[in-house]
Amino acid sequence: MKVEFFLNDRKRQFDVSPDEYLLETLRKNHITSVKNGCNESTCGVCSILLDGKPVLSCTVLTIRIEGQHVTTVEGLQDEVSHISDYFGDEGADQCGFCNSGLALTIIALKKEYKNPTDDDIKNYIVGNLCRCSGYQAQLKAIKRYLEDSK
Ligand code: FES
Ligand code: FES
Repeated sequence: MKVEFFLNDRKRQFDVSPDEYLLETLRKNHITSVKNGCNESTCGVCSILLDGKPVLSCTVLTIRIEGQHVTTVEGLQDEVSHISDYFGDEGADQCGFCNSGLALTIIALKKEYKNPTDDDIKNYIVGNLCRCSGYQAQLKAIKRYLEDSK
């Protein structure tokens, strides 16, 4: 089946099977920043932005997103690199596996909230799991990034 959608602002056509999930479509088309962790909507490493909102690409059937806008780290490299600087400064660097999904979620958070509280931030990133940190340094980095982006 043919499906057309915008991938990082470029209109593209993809040939997909009816039961194919977006995660698979993206990775088959060299969008390797999107990772496969659990493949059952619990880890967040497959996060992408769908029309600007964070979505787990392992749960979205590709044929359902006709005409929508998919954004990945490949399309937001400058902003993601900017976020990474804040994480580095706070000693909160993320691994290549979880980093992309978290960065996209933070970008969406910035658009959605003007002055998020700590709880707003924690709730927003709750689906982006990291098994190797306590999230405190990440929270500090996110707050500084949001503050400096105003
Ligand atoms: S791979 Fe999609 S949530 Fe884990
Ligand atoms: S830093 Fe990537 S899972 Fe913890």
